Amino acid sequence: MEILKSLPHFEDPNLLVGFEGSADAAIYRLREDLALVCTLDFFTPIVDDPYWFGQIAAANSLSDVYAMGGRPVLALNIVCFPKKGLDKDILREILRGGAEKVREAGAVLAGGHSVDDREIKYGLSVVGVVHPERYLTNAGARPGDRLFLTKPLGTGIIATAVKGGVADEAAARRAMEIMATLNRAAAEAMEEVGVSAATDVTGFGLLGHALEMAEASGVKLVISAGKVPVIKEALGFARLGIIPEGDYENIRFCEKKVRILPGVPEERVFLFYDAQTSGGLLVSVPEERAPRFFEKLLEKGVFEAAEIGYVEEGEAQVVVEP
Ligand code: CO
Ligand code: CO
Repeated sequence: MEILKSLPHFEDPNLLVGFEGSADAAIYRLREDLALVCTLDFFTPIVDDPYWFGQIAAANSLSDVYAMGGRPVLALNIVCFPKKGLDKDILREILRGGAEKVREAGAVLAGGHSVDDREIKYGLSVVGVVHPERYLTNAGARPGDRLFLTKPLGTGIIATAVKGGVADEAAARRAMEIMATLNRAAAEAMEEVGVSAATDVTGFGLLGHALEMAEASGVKLVISAGKVPVIKEALGFARLGIIPEGDYENIRFCEKKVRILPGVPEERVFLFYDAQTSGGLLVSVPEERAPRFFEKLLEKGVFEAAEIGYVEEGEAQVVVEP
């Protein structure tokens, strides 16, 4: 962010990952064999059901720790909720959903802070641990690597369709389940196999985060449109022109460095730019380890993961081929 450049600058040899670049979380070395992974995230409800919202917001906050190869150990609630006018049961359900996700992550929920606010917001501050020489960023992708995506795309488009009253129960439910799924199993597969780079796919969509990876790593990413996992219903809504405003912003932001080759269906392109909440991991894996990585993902139940492309030498950019 532009504004950060005018603020006081911190330097500390133990700060392994900070403001620079577009990392998912900060990493601070405590000892030769131990570093903290620190992150926080919170947002307004993206689904109507408070229990699902709590789960999704928590899964999203935990995701940045997983994206950096860390293991979450401790979480704190961040809550904005009106003192008057809303049923307290709503808050209870949000917090219950969040707490269950923290438990599923194997971490401990240890408190938090709430603020009186007219608009509901919820999320977590998460502390994780990682070996200071084994954390991952989006800067490690190397020519020859294979690219994987661990969740299907389209949750932003489905959320918009739900708001517009055109999505059926099944589509809404499917999107909620995808968003509430932890990236834990995918992160464990990364650790067991050893990968080059990772990031989680969130607000900038697959192509926005892929472009960040290309720029941070100084490589070209090639994505095969037909291999990218997508939510079938979202493809249908995109065809009808049900596209969130933010997706157009993502397109404008990336356009110059993303090349869509002829033959890629337009509705797919919208899905590739679709802002995701609690999306999957985009992982760059050395070619010789790619088959083992895919096997591990399946073994751990990450059934919708797919190999979606590869990394090439060249100017930092993303190319989408049919
Ligand atoms: Co992230
Ligand atoms: Co985040």
